[in-house]
Amino acid sequence: MKLTRIMAGALVALALGLNVAPANASPDKPVIGFSIDDLRVERWTRDRDFFIEAAGKLGATVNVQSANASEERQASQIENLISKKVDAIVIVPFNSKALTNVIAEAKKAGIKVISYDRLILNADVDAYISFDNERVGYMQAEAVLKAKPTGNYYLLGGSPTDNNAKMLRAGQEKALQAAKDKGDIKIVGEQWVKEWSNTEALSIIENALTANKNNIDAIVASNDGTAGGAIQALAAQGLAGKVAISGQDCDLAGVKRIVDGTQTVTVYKPLKLIATEAAKLAVQLVRGETPSFNSKLDNGLKQVNSQLLTPIAVTKENVDLVIKDGFYTHEQVYGK
Ligand code: GAL
Repeated sequence: MKLTRIMAGALVALALGLNVAPANASPDKPVIGFSIDDLRVERWTRDRDFFIEAAGKLGATVNVQSANASEERQASQIENLISKKVDAIVIVPFNSKALTNVIAEAKKAGIKVISYDRLILNADVDAYISFDNERVGYMQAEAVLKAKPTGNYYLLGGSPTDNNAKMLRAGQEKALQAAKDKGDIKIVGEQWVKEWSNTEALSIIENALTANKNNIDAIVASNDGTAGGAIQALAAQGLAGKVAISGQDCDLAGVKRIVDGTQTVTVYKPLKLIATEAAKLAVQLVRGETPSFNSKLDNGLKQVNSQLLTPIAVTKENVDLVIKDGFYTHEQVYGK
């Protein structure tokens, strides 16, 4: 009797097209949507693999989507995950400011939303997990400054739609401030790199070299992909290895450049850790448990419960730590 009444109620709700309560309440076997900005960038393929592995161990399954640097595609992929009634959506946003509405929809459908690596602004996210991005930026500029304490500096920022790019820049500026004030270094130019594209970085640095008659001593680049483009431009002028340059991610190509001396520093962010912690966080939220956080970040709408992990600067001196930590094999790095 009771059952028929519930079924009848559900049918009426469906017929009226009402928003029925989430059918996704499946805490034992949660389904997690993982909406990634751009799987064409090496690091995210590793985040994806580690995340699927960790989620699997917790009894969850993962539906992965890549927006390939399109904010429209990302919004429609998230809408699709909402209509599939996933239990949680973990998002690496392409545009930090473009997901307010779609996240409101997800929340209305009872779905937990986690901002992964990049903070989503002005949106009702349940949690944020990342590395301390300002610290990453500080480490990048600090190592470049150590290698080139004087001279002309170029600041190569990340994607203008990525909140991390701004946090990195804040850290970089902090590290350079004193040397700038003393007149030891001079910032001869700065530019953001659309979509973190390495070809865009290549042409920006080609132009910067021309404009400065090759008189650039250091480039503070914000990740390994863009550093790779910049180093290609340097190599064309016979300057690779002479100009100090930073990166981030420990992409395999970046690590190899550290070994051969054409890149000064990269930043190691143990991706297995962030992916594992994020999977745990998502499952805990779905199960109504209380995750542990170590920070709160203001995203314009709310103070977001955040877990910030610690990045590690990698130079020639300590590059083997990526092998010791199992991020790469000796053969991958050294070819033997
Ligand atoms: C940043 C991220 C970096 C880098 C970059 C390009 O937000 O923190 O690790 O991968 O995006 O995708």
